[in-house]
Amino acid sequence: ETAEQHAHFEARIARGEKIEAGDWMPAEYRRQLIRMISQHAHSEVVGMLPEGEWITRAPSLRRKTILMAKVQDEAGHGQYLYHAAETLGATREDMLQALLSGKAKYSSIFNYPTHSWADVGMIGWLVDGAAIKNQTMLAGCSYGPYSRAMVRICSEETFHHKQGKEMIVAYAQGTPQQRAMAQDALNRWWWPAMMMLGPHDADSPNSGVLTRWGIKLKSNDEVRQEFINEHVPELLEAGLTIPDPDLHQDEHGNWRHGPIHWDEFWAVIRGEQGLNKERLGARQAAHDDGAWVRDALQAYTDRQRAVAAD
Ligand code: ACO
Repeated sequence: ETAEQHAHFEARIARGEKIEAGDWMPAEYRRQLIRMISQHAHSEVVGMLPEGEWITRAPSLRRKTILMAKVQDEAGHGQYLYHAAETLGATREDMLQALLSGKAKYSSIFNYPTHSWADVGMIGWLVDGAAIKNQTMLAGCSYGPYSRAMVRICSEETFHHKQGKEMIVAYAQGTPQQRAMAQDALNRWWWPAMMMLGPHDADSPNSGVLTRWGIKLKSNDEVRQEFINEHVPELLEAGLTIPDPDLHQDEHGNWRHGPIHWDEFWAVIRGEQGLNKERLGARQAAHDDGAWVRDALQAYTDRQRAVAAD
């Protein structure tokens, strides 16, 4: 890495140019992107588990087909993102191994259990709502393949968000039992959704370099503020109570939240709290069940190569 290469790269970033797959980039830019994009891909894939559990228990055929399409979309998002990370030189095998061995992170939010059908709606409204805020920002990021993947993912996430909101609004106006179910789901998902956008800016070690290189265009706290400002009025309008006694609107119209329990966040990420073992166990079982497909693909490739070599 020469000083000239660095200067050229910094100038491209300053001009707002997209960096593309074959372009020269600092090793740290590549490392940060592989870390973030692979974690993001793992999150999409692990994210299929809590919702997938409800496909057989959906209350109607309509809700079932919507949920099946949503879970399938998440698999597609995982694919785009693994491909985006592959453009940086990461291999699929290494990334999957890092997930299965517990070395790579995935979003904290997917270590929480889904207790009732309303959780499916609340995940759509809150979790996908938070993800869209983060990902709309990333759609403008400096790495071309990641930013383009985000454009498509965000448009699909918007459908996920709408189906979740529609479901919860219907239950919040439904029978007392449905209302209680929607409120219970909000009580359990509100704080995890707040946490999933990452630690406060002062405790975010990666933000400095990500911001400098145009990967993050907004800080964790800025994205969280956008998320709260959009969702609080809508949840209140739906007749639900947000489980934060300190929540209030400041003189600028921003909704201010009470203290977040970061001990829980870090314990969930470390796998000491929540369903980390169950999630990785399910991934490992799926990986093992798919071994025959990988073997068949390998045998086919080997045979094609042998034929071509003859
Ligand atoms: N879950 C798990 N780990 C997290 C989370 C979270 N919700 N938030 C932060 N962390 C980790 C970071 O990965 C980092 O650890 P690492 O350095 O070992 O990788 C550490 O906590 C410190 O956090 P930050 O320095 O703030 O990390 P970063 O600057 O990367 O910001 C963020 C975190 C906002 C999640 C960023 O990585 C990002 O935008 N990622 C892409 C989006 C994404 O992964 N979304 C997944 C959920 S969306 C969905 O699947 C529906």
